Amino acid sequence: MDKPPEKIVVRGLRDVAAAETKISYVNPNGTLYYVGYNIDDLVEQVCYEEVVYLLLYNRLPNKQELDKLRALLISEMNLPEPITDSIKATPKNCHPMEVLRTEISHLSYYDADCNDHSEAANKRRAIQLIAKVPAIVAAIHRAHTNQPTVAPTEEFGFAENFLYMFRGKTADSEEKAAIDRFMTLHADHGFNASTFAARVTASTNSDMYSAVTSAIGTLKGPLHGGACEKVMHMLDDINTEEEVEEYIQGMLDDQKKIMGFGHRVYKTEDPRTKHLRCIAENLCHRTNTLNLYNLCLKIENVVHEKKKIFPNVDFYAAVTLDALGVTSAFFTPFFASSRTSGWVAHILEQYEDAVLLRPSSQYVGEFGRKFVPIEQR
Ligand code: COA
Repeated sequence: MDKPPEKIVVRGLRDVAAAETKISYVNPNGTLYYVGYNIDDLVEQVCYEEVVYLLLYNRLPNKQELDKLRALLISEMNLPEPITDSIKATPKNCHPMEVLRTEISHLSYYDADCNDHSEAANKRRAIQLIAKVPAIVAAIHRAHTNQPTVAPTEEFGFAENFLYMFRGKTADSEEKAAIDRFMTLHADHGFNASTFAARVTASTNSDMYSAVTSAIGTLKGPLHGGACEKVMHMLDDINTEEEVEEYIQGMLDDQKKIMGFGHRVYKTEDPRTKHLRCIAENLCHRTNTLNLYNLCLKIENVVHEKKKIFPNVDFYAAVTLDALGVTSAFFTPFFASSRTSGWVAHILEQYEDAVLLRPSSQYVGEFGRKFVPIEQR
């Protein structure tokens, strides 16, 4: 008989280390490191472009290196015309994550040396993708709201350009700091599901566009990056702080997950939450939407009281983006725009590791079934 040997099945790959990495460390005790730097030390002191440099080159840049990378990133925010035309042709009812997923795949048609898989070509592609993902997100928003595409400008930083191209209006200094910090805080996060998906695709020596497309499809799910949009739907459903207790109890009674709460690795507060909570409070103050922020605080308290779980990165990210004028369907695309730097860093690391990621499974199905020809079934 073909009875398979007993294997240890690790459901959900919980705690399984699938590879070594030097890019980021997610500490279950509630700290996050990018290439050895605690994000608490980075978030208010570096700009997003410095984080990009750090993830790609394993060290922080000097002023000259930073200026060079910023100029390159901004020039790469220009999109090939067929991409903008294709975005304009998509039905307006398509979710922006669907359009993003398709257009990143589409982008490979316009890579002049698509078959060059040298390290230099892959680094160039990595920088192009970091720049083009937010540019595509901005172009989708402009097309879906019947507004003209906005070109990037050298006058602004990278994150600021993203917001400018998305909204079509310049950001003030607080909005500028907020979007920069948002992107820094979302840049990388160990072997999360989308990064792992990107690495699996890269491990077959497939191209970087395919790997980022895999990542985008994976991020889209509500148990991962899609949670942020769902947080906003929950805030829309709850009108006042008085309704929070009953709403949350109802969700728990129905065995439903509260979006923006819980985490596979952190069993304490997500280290990004305190920064996003603070950014959200500041922005809500300015936009006169403190009622929304206070609703979040109340939800946080009630969920912790009832379930002893903490908000993750997506919870206050929702209010932050809302206060920046981003509509909820674009929350996950903003996450994707920031995480592309982490994805491509991991893809490059996976190419170097040069090992096929291919787990096994425990077969629990039947054996020895008698074949019956189709006419007799
Ligand atoms: N709402 C309600 N209960 C939750 C919860 C949530 N958001 N997150 C975890 N729990 C519960 C689990 O059901 C489990 O309860 P039990 O012990 O009574 O069965 C307990 O908390 C422990 O869960 P855990 O095993 O740590 O979660 P996980 O690793 O399987 O799942 C997530 C992690 C992120 C998928 C899960 O927390 C979740 O679905 N969160 C909501 C979606 C979200 O915000 N995703 C973004 C993640 S950054």
